[in-house]
Amino acid sequence: MSIHIAASVLNADFARLGDQVRELEAAGVDIIHADVMDGHFVNNISFGPAVVAALRRCTKLPIDAHLMISDADAYLTQFVRAGAGLVTVHVEACPDPRRTLAEIRRLGARPGITLSPPTPVERVLGLLDLADLVLVMTVNPGFGGQPFSADTLPKVRAVRDRLAELGRQAEIQADGGINAKTAPLAVAAGANNLVVGSYLFKHPAGIHQAVAELRRAIGE
Ligand code: DX5
Ligand code: ZN
Repeated sequence: MSIHIAASVLNADFARLGDQVRELEAAGVDIIHADVMDGHFVNNISFGPAVVAALRRCTKLPIDAHLMISDADAYLTQFVRAGAGLVTVHVEACPDPRRTLAEIRRLGARPGITLSPPTPVERVLGLLDLADLVLVMTVNPGFGGQPFSADTLPKVRAVRDRLAELGRQAEIQADGGINAKTAPLAVAAGANNLVVGSYLFKHPAGIHQAVAELRRAIGE
């Protein structure tokens, strides 16, 4: 099972975002992960569709938009039009998650569903027939640089087991506190897509070396 590395640009230097994205692409990441925050669903504000469109202009990599916003339904079209190939919504923020996931697909993007650490995994197990990706938050949403929470890993396993029962191939993404130590834990639990932010941007030897160490840590 090949593991995808999704680089979160939340902790990038926004004053030179294009250069940072090109550096990530050269270092071999698979996806650019856009952490969208509205200051309401989470206590932080990051960026919106205009920045996703700017990311689209500076990389050929797929862009996955992680919507940490209260009214995701109202913005799906804008994020898909901006160039997000995968749009992930929080089950906690969707009045009708089945309708939202179906709408993302109707708009031409791949639908993802995510849940925060306090949310029981049962809230998403009934949605796996509609999702191409399940993002299990391994930190509380809102900020990069938080410590990995290993007690979210049973949720990864539960989603992996249910997908197997359903015979579905959805990706399982772990997001938050991923580094060379925690990445193997997430993969062992069943994740095959890892969101990495601060580990890449804060690594003393730079992004290229950070990606190489991650790949080595997960045996790729
Ligand atoms: C947090 C975001 C994560 C975060 C990852 O709300 O969803 O994608 O930016 O950053 P690190 O890897 O620093 O935890
Ligand atoms: Zn994220």
